[in-house]
Amino acid sequence: MTDAPKIGFAPFAAPAKGALVVFCDDALTFGPQTRKALAPSGDLVARAAKAERFTGKSGSSLTLPVPAGLKVTRLVVIGTGKPAKLTPQDFLKLGGTALSKVPVAEAQATVFAETAAGAMTAQQAADVATGARLRAYAFDRYKTKKKDDDKRPAGATLTVAVSDVAAANKALAPNAAIAEGVVIARDLVNEPANVLYPEEFARRASKLRKVGVDVDVLDVKQMRKLGMNALLGVGQGSVRDSRLVVMRWNGGKKGEKPVAFIGKGVCFDTGGISIKPAGGMEDMKGDMAGAACVVGLMHALAARKAKVNVVGAIGLVENMPDGNAQRPGDIVTSMSGQTIEIINTDAEGRLVLADVLWYVAKKHKPKFMVDLATLTGAILVALGVEYAGMFSNDDRLAERLTAAGQVTGERVWRMPLGPEYDKQIDSQFADMKNTGGRNGGSITAAQFLQRFVDDTSWAHLDIAGTAMGVPASDLNRSWGSGYGVRLLNRLVADHYEAKR
Ligand code: BES
Ligand code: MN
Ligand code: ZN
Repeated sequence: MTDAPKIGFAPFAAPAKGALVVFCDDALTFGPQTRKALAPSGDLVARAAKAERFTGKSGSSLTLPVPAGLKVTRLVVIGTGKPAKLTPQDFLKLGGTALSKVPVAEAQATVFAETAAGAMTAQQAADVATGARLRAYAFDRYKTKKKDDDKRPAGATLTVAVSDVAAANKALAPNAAIAEGVVIARDLVNEPANVLYPEEFARRASKLRKVGVDVDVLDVKQMRKLGMNALLGVGQGSVRDSRLVVMRWNGGKKGEKPVAFIGKGVCFDTGGISIKPAGGMEDMKGDMAGAACVVGLMHALAARKAKVNVVGAIGLVENMPDGNAQRPGDIVTSMSGQTIEIINTDAEGRLVLADVLWYVAKKHKPKFMVDLATLTGAILVALGVEYAGMFSNDDRLAERLTAAGQVTGERVWRMPLGPEYDKQIDSQFADMKNTGGRNGGSITAAQFLQRFVDDTSWAHLDIAGTAMGVPASDLNRSWGSGYGVRLLNRLVADHYEAKR
């Protein structure tokens, strides 16, 4: 299987085998270590660059098989454009590009962590390594027949050459925790629903105990006792029982209020009695991407020992049509006491979140709550796959999320909330109904959620467009993107961690 190569650091030295990846700027200038390593090939690179019209502009690359004078199987030159302009996100992307230019069947690759401006900093080199790790991810555990070209040899390595190995390793440790969190989230999103049903999801979340996370799994009986009838109503048509998983990482000061992350975990969304059309329904195995992100994020924070108290809570259900399924017209009483008339059983995510948001707000009294949910198709219509929709009752939290999105490339775009939208979800029979009609579908969904956060500072991220089925990018080739792990890790790191 194409497991990621083993990624490590070594001091700069021209490799004696495998692939060599180096960087140059848009004047075809190399750093000193790279020049030294390429010296035995004379003017080969310059001639090849001319022949291939390679100018070193950002995003371009040049591959030379068995370059004369060098011992490597291939030399890959990647253009960075002007090195002074490179952002942290760019170094991640360079790592992704580097990995992509080495054939999967190659057992050994060396990447020189140097730009035309000289050796990369330890952090930049760690970002290159991390980008390569994210790009190498492939979900192929169910592919039993693979061609040799698609197989990574056992023990394949990717060595990032640096000037200070110890410093690079130190910088990589938190990065590796975050990348592992992204991988966990992607695996969960990609996994089919016959394998990953609520109980199994809870088991996988429970593995976070290994990194020091407290994990509580509440079953149907316990949720019934808490009055979580909105969540339970969604799951009642499935033979798979619902679960609520509450994860806690206490890396902050004792007694300090936690921050909280809440995920929609609909392991499969058929729509229920308001059943979805057949075309594309298989994508609804990813309707738990919000929950997957929360699990990946909790891993990242715990594995890098973030100095913060965090609660992660995920509502896990399967939305199925059945003799026992919830009907349109049913009225449920949520944990908050508010009643909800079910108009459309396919608007199930907000019902799940209603009880989890209320539970977390009341039980943990967090500094803020951010929920993530593949909540509405309408957010795809509004924003496509480039931005998640963000709704918030707190301008400062919204600004911080926007900034974290810019830095990580996991971007959010703020959408409106407002009492004017409330009339769309007022019900004739209950306190509210679970759909608000076609207009502003993502907004009325968020407006519904807001009724369950009370006065807690809160942001809702509608990730229906960004969490799955996004086009391949420098950092991701897989269907499940792992969206949100890096974004929320950044939010926490920048604003909510005690300084070291
Ligand atoms: N899980 C879907 C939203 C979704 C759609 C996610 C496409 C990813 C891709 C959600 O539960 C849903 O069905 N929403 C309905 C709401 C409607 C019935 C008010 C929708 O968006 O159509
Ligand atoms: Mn639905
Ligand atoms: Zn759904």
